[in-house]
Amino acid sequence: MANSKRKDPLRILFISIEGNTRSFVHKLSEYAQKAHKQDENIRLVESIEVSDASGEILMKDPFVTFVPTYLSGGNGIHNGYTEIMTEELRFTLEDEDNYKNCYGVVGSGNKNFNAQYGLTAKHYASKFDFPLIDLYELRGTSADVERVYDRLVAYQTEFEKKLEAFQN
Ligand SMILES: Cc1cc2nc3c(=O)[nH]c(=O)nc-3n(C[C@H](O)[C@H](O)[C@H](O)COP(=O)(O)O)c2cc1C
Repeated sequence: MANSKRKDPLRILFISIEGNTRSFVHKLSEYAQKAHKQDENIRLVESIEVSDASGEILMKDPFVTFVPTYLSGGNGIHNGYTEIMTEELRFTLEDEDNYKNCYGVVGSGNKNFNAQYGLTAKHYASKFDFPLIDLYELRGTSADVERVYDRLVAYQTEFEKKLEAFQN
C-alpha cells in the first residue's frame, strides 16, 4: 500500500558557473538519499539547474533557490552591486511568476570578498521578498550540508502548511 504520509522532495532551483553550487546540491542529495534509506519519510532532494540552454522552466510546486555570488568589482558597500553571470537564474525566477512558489534563497560565495560575501542571495531575498535561509562558502562543509538540509525541511514544511491553509 502506498504510504500517504510520504513527504514531497525538497526542490532546488540553482545556477552554477564553476561547479561549486552543483557540488553542494549533489552533496545535499546524497545526504538525503542516505537518510531516506533508513526512513522513507525523510525528504529526498530534486534539483533543476538553470543554464543559458535550459529554455523556459515552470516551477509549480514549492522550491528553494541556490545562487552563488558574482558581482562586478567594488566592495559591496559603496559599489560592486551589479550581478554578473547568474542573471539567467533571476530571469527564471521572474518568468511565469516562478518566484511566488519560492520559499527562500541559499547563497554562497567566498569570504575573501568581505562585504560582498554572499551578496547576490541577499539581493534576491530583498528583491523577491523571500527569506535568506542560509549562506555557505565555496563547496560547503559536511556541517553546512546537514545544517542547510535541516533548514530547508523546516522552511518547505512551513511554506506547504501556509499553502494548504490558503487553499482550504
Ligand atoms: C569573477 C568572480 C567574481 C566573484 N565575486 C564574488 C563576490 O562578489 N562575492 C562572493 O562572496 N563571492 C564571489 N565569487 C566567488 C564565487 O561566488 C564562489 O567561488 C562560488 O562558490 C562559485 O559558485 P559556482 O562554482 O557554483 O559558480 C566570485 C568568483 C568569481 C570567479
